[in-house]
Amino acid sequence: FNTIDDLEIDGKVVLTRVDLNVPVENGRVADATRIEKIVPTIKAIQAKGGIPVLLAHFDRPKGKRVDAMSLRQIVPALEQALGQPVGFASEAVGGDAKRAVAALKAGDVLMLENTRFYPGEEENDPTFTASLAALGQAYVNDAFSAAHRAHASTEGLGRLMPAAAGKLMEAELNALDGALGNPQRPVVAVVGGAKVSTKLDLLSNLIEKVDHLVIGGGMANTFLVAQGVEVGKSLAERDMADTAREIIAKAQAGGCTIHLPVDVVVAGEFAANAPSQVVAADACPPDAMILDAGPQTVAHIRAVFAECKTLIWNGPLGAFEIEPFDAATNAAAQAAAELTRTGQLVSVAGGGDTVAALNRAGVAGDFTFISTAGGAFLEWMEGKDLPGVAALIAAKRK
Ligand code: 3PG
Repeated sequence: FNTIDDLEIDGKVVLTRVDLNVPVENGRVADATRIEKIVPTIKAIQAKGGIPVLLAHFDRPKGKRVDAMSLRQIVPALEQALGQPVGFASEAVGGDAKRAVAALKAGDVLMLENTRFYPGEEENDPTFTASLAALGQAYVNDAFSAAHRAHASTEGLGRLMPAAAGKLMEAELNALDGALGNPQRPVVAVVGGAKVSTKLDLLSNLIEKVDHLVIGGGMANTFLVAQGVEVGKSLAERDMADTAREIIAKAQAGGCTIHLPVDVVVAGEFAANAPSQVVAADACPPDAMILDAGPQTVAHIRAVFAECKTLIWNGPLGAFEIEPFDAATNAAAQAAAELTRTGQLVSVAGGGDTVAALNRAGVAGDFTFISTAGGAFLEWMEGKDLPGVAALIAAKRK
């Protein structure tokens, strides 16, 4: 794909797709990470004389104008991150958008209204895409986290205009390639979360690509059940036991070692500070539930990390939202952070819950790379082609 350096943008309007789908509470941005991460791209466009016009979606208004989902509420947080005023057009296409773009001067930044207010965005409708394209002369896609959507602003524009990846898109793609595309071996993947059923494609893809697969969270219970272990009241998908056995068999045949908990933290209920105890993984009492991996499991995971050169992490190891069931996730995250700091491990993590867990553990800053993506990170881990990325690659070939 092209980068911003490959584009001729001096004096030109650059339609810049960013992801401003950030958590908002009471009209205020609650986590500005995604906003802060697009600043280098905006500055790089400006440094080459381009005028960034930002395109983004917010929430899921389904093709209609929904005032509560206006991007206007994001403007103050972007102004703060950027250190300059940001204009706002109350439309993404049409008269207001055209007038706002026509009034732009060098150094300005303009944000257009939520692209998902228009049905043509999600339909990737050529007429809507052409109306967007008419507003500028080049296209930069910096929204890796929306690249799994084949929408007008994430995919269509890339096929219509001179196109390049923004700085964040570039960093995401390079980090992910370093973790799974072309990694230093051995590679360990940590996959956690509640359900096997939502991560089947991901597990199938990973067992072909990594040397070690650590399974945690509710998913691990399903794998324990698949091995004939009783897990009491634990969350487990008993109807997925056959599938779990198939995954184990395929992994074994392909040289990927699967690591399941050897000990677990159990409690009678999922509540903060519920009385809990550590038992062997096959000794969960019938009236208890598994809520975290135990200390021996953590020690084992640490040893696996120490043997590896690359780590890719998606999903917590336990019910990390509530203490003390965040202990295994925190300890494993700290081990990964330590190995990363000393240069022994390249560590990449992504997915909403995962990043929240690493932030809680206080180690997110020590990882080699933390993706800003949720769904797109998962689809990428599943080995799928992301339409937004495919359009950038095709644009380079033209
Ligand atoms: C995200 O927040 O993961 C992206 O912005 C994509 O949002 P979507 O799932 O509504 O398409």
